[in-house]
Amino acid sequence: MSRLDSFLRRLQAQRDCLNWAVDMVAKVPGPLFELGLGNGRTYDHLRSICPDREIFVFERSVSAHPDCVPDAAHLFEGLIDDTLDAVQDRFAASVSMAHVDLGSGHPDIDTKTAATVSARLPALMAPGGVIISDQELNLPEAEALPLPAGVQERRYFMYRWPQA
Ligand SMILES: C[S@@+](CC[C@H](N)C(=O)[O-])C[C@H]1O[C@@H](n2cnc3c(N)ncnc32)[C@H](O)[C@@H]1O
Repeated sequence: MSRLDSFLRRLQAQRDCLNWAVDMVAKVPGPLFELGLGNGRTYDHLRSICPDREIFVFERSVSAHPDCVPDAAHLFEGLIDDTLDAVQDRFAASVSMAHVDLGSGHPDIDTKTAATVSARLPALMAPGGVIISDQELNLPEAEALPLPAGVQERRYFMYRWPQA
């Protein structure tokens, strides 16, 4: 497979997982979290497929095109450890869907980031909420979900938070 084919497959898998997760949480109230704004591609997709839902974005340092940057009330800029810690009370048990896309391509860094997120997301998730992640997370309380048809194993990871 060419690198172009592989890149296209990765993006297609990401879009399929996002669409599937949004469908799964259609009846779960609460905001969506986008962890990792990057160039804003997946944030833009999320806001286009669920225009009526509130989306909060977390990013170390914003460099996306201005069209793809949320307003200040929906953006938490800084290291994910600090920003997720800062919102624990405000969003406790209320997040319907979290998309974790913080991968750097460096396994040692990504393992640490996954541990950071795994420690902080559980208290934020609403019952029945869904987490989709580019890295495997350590969420023993959550149900690991199968990926949508056609998405290669371990390309993405999906979890559902238990009902209360
Ligand atoms: C793969 S990119 C996100 C791509 C984005 N979802 C898109 O579709 O354009 C990862 C982003 O996560 C951010 N990031 C990585 N580690 C972070 C951390 N520890 N705290 C906050 N942001 C982080 C990076 O700055 C980068 O913008």
